[in-house]
Amino acid sequence: MELAQRNYQTSAAGLETLFAASAPDVISFAGGYPDRSLFPRQELNQAFSRSFTNDDSELLQYASTAGYLPLRQKLAQRMCHDGISATAQDVLLTQGAQQGIDLTARLLLNVGDGLVVEGPTYVGALAAFDAYQPTYYTVPVEADGMDLQALQKILMTKQVKLIYTIPDFQNPTGTVMSLAKRKALVALANRYDVVILEDGPYRDLRYTGENLPPLRHFDTEGRVIFLGSFSKILAPSLRLGWLTASAELLKPLMALKGGADVESSNLMMQGIDNYLQHNDLDAHIQQIRTCYRQKKELMVKTLREYLPDTCQINDPQGGFFLWLQLPAGFDAEAFMNNKLLPEANVSFVPASVMTPGQGPNNGARLNFTGPSLAQIRSGAKALGLSLRAALAKAQLSN
Ligand SMILES: Cc1ncc(COP(=O)(O)O)c(C=O)c1O
Repeated sequence: MELAQRNYQTSAAGLETLFAASAPDVISFAGGYPDRSLFPRQELNQAFSRSFTNDDSELLQYASTAGYLPLRQKLAQRMCHDGISATAQDVLLTQGAQQGIDLTARLLLNVGDGLVVEGPTYVGALAAFDAYQPTYYTVPVEADGMDLQALQKILMTKQVKLIYTIPDFQNPTGTVMSLAKRKALVALANRYDVVILEDGPYRDLRYTGENLPPLRHFDTEGRVIFLGSFSKILAPSLRLGWLTASAELLKPLMALKGGADVESSNLMMQGIDNYLQHNDLDAHIQQIRTCYRQKKELMVKTLREYLPDTCQINDPQGGFFLWLQLPAGFDAEAFMNNKLLPEANVSFVPASVMTPGQGPNNGARLNFTGPSLAQIRSGAKALGLSLRAALAKAQLSN
């Protein structure tokens, strides 16, 4: 599907829907928030205090655009364990994965350039891409990731500069791209000479099943840019993520990073590095996994109990979200705004804001990590009952 360029207001409206649906008195399945009780407050507090105590006066100084070297070394090591061969020289520290999206778009997309996104996709990525006014091509997401036949049709007939994908626990559908599709996607990018932006902030958050290698693992031509983030495994307020790519792409990305904000906060980078020196991040991630797995299971179980038969959910193996598929023609956005929010005080993100242009509206993203177990139980029940009532009414009036 080819679409005209979007303007800034389209994505701004999408983000506003998200924030309105996250008001304090609402049981929000809309946000992409971690569980706040899992933030390692004390450990981070100690790490930042130690950084100040050990201060050699460089802590508060300008440092380097690439980012604090010891932290880049640690991240390179972590990525090596995850199937990405990288050294510190291959890593750029960014203000969250979000900045990696923006820098990549800034490097590769001029007005009208072809950009492939998954449909539906991460609304914040659309907000970043919109600023560069690309021509969007949307590829449907299947249970095992992007529909590669649809992608190939686009690549055969259109000029595409960049493919944006979230292979692991996709935002918003929670799906994982299969091993076969990972290899085939990189092969297609090689064949049609396209860069892939692999956005991987949820990679560490698997609750069941086996990890699959990242796309970057299969990249023999230096065309995959990989993004990681501390937002979902430590805390989003740290605003720290990382990017790795071939030297050919990394060099201009680093120059753009310098132009955007000189460097990431040295204070943040050193504090996080100190945390990693004194704490076991993997043990912390294991704790997060245990908690989120329990939350996901409760949400799936409750929804299966209360949803009408005409609605389906998936049961993702990790990440933050599950996908609610509603009957054809059902308007999820109108249902949320007119019924679910005012009557039950429950929110989700309707499908309509997560595709460029006029996508299908009979779906919704549900977040299970932010709300408490009690909120998941009562919110999922209320959602199921409210949908039953709305669908029964729609049938009566047909
Ligand atoms: C797929 C995806 N990419 C990037 C981000 C932004 O993450 P960060 O906080 O690291 O900027 C998010 C946040 O929700 C996300 O879901």
